[in-house]
Amino acid sequence: MSNVALLEVNSLSKVYPNGYEALADVSFNLQAGEFVCIIGRSGAGKSTLLRCINGLISTTTGIVRMQGRDITSLNDEQKLLLRRQIGFIFQEFNLVGRLTALQNVLTGRLGYMNNLSALLGYFNANHREKALECLGRVHMLQRATYRADNLSGGEKQRVAIARSLAQEPLLLLADEPVASLDPELSWSVMGDLRNAAKELGVSTLVNIHDIETAKHFADRIIGIAQGRILYDGLPGELSDGLLQEIYRSENPAARSRYDENSQNAELEA
Ligand SMILES: Nc1ncnc2c1ncn2[C@@H]1O[C@H](COP(=O)(O)OP(=O)(O)O)[C@@H](O)[C@H]1O
Ligand SMILES: [Mg+2]
Repeated sequence: MSNVALLEVNSLSKVYPNGYEALADVSFNLQAGEFVCIIGRSGAGKSTLLRCINGLISTTTGIVRMQGRDITSLNDEQKLLLRRQIGFIFQEFNLVGRLTALQNVLTGRLGYMNNLSALLGYFNANHREKALECLGRVHMLQRATYRADNLSGGEKQRVAIARSLAQEPLLLLADEPVASLDPELSWSVMGDLRNAAKELGVSTLVNIHDIETAKHFADRIIGIAQGRILYDGLPGELSDGLLQEIYRSENPAARSRYDENSQNAELEA
């Protein structure tokens, strides 16, 4: 068990229905408790990678294993279970605005409830305790009863982080979690995310545009350009030359061929 990586991505490629190859032969491992940042310019394939890992979109070839088990070919029931084990944090938070912060975090517990309780929204004391603990980890206890749509951007993202922690996930995926926040705030939110992940031993992959932020918080950095990994190593060993290469390469055809509708059609709900 101890030698099995928490996440193993092996020769993963993703070709979208329009024929565009967004990921090509991507391989890396994530060990239990690691906090890894994925950098690369817009269009590099960062979001595609996270969506393939959590099964939001299908992979074309390659294998993704979690704790040694292939997760690219699961039945519906197994997929549901996998979703519970993977927390996802979005750039735009995706909270339910009319619910309170606490209610939003409680939705992270739904995967642990039977259908009837979930349907009735009956969260027992254990679920509430867990949700409050998670709000506390991101310093949001004092906002527990606020409606989500009355919170600031930074507060919303903290609540979204608490919601994903309430899932008690094995793996956290965060897609540009601080891209909508101003620089100072983004560091404090990243700090909370990292601290919580480290304290709980949750492995984390964070897509992030900003190199300085990535270097500051990551145990390890993966740099991708045009769907390929150009760097996988320590933040301190990433050379300026390689950084330039990661941020230079863009396939000019890619953007124009990208179409929101086909992306939505790809989502498997
Ligand atoms: N549904 C889709 N259909 C076709 N091309 C897509 C789709 N989604 C993304 N792409 C393209 O795949 C590439 C990678 O996109 P994405 O993973 O969103 O990059 P990043 O998150 O690094 O900005 C881009 O060139 C993008 O235009
Ligand atoms: Mg993206």
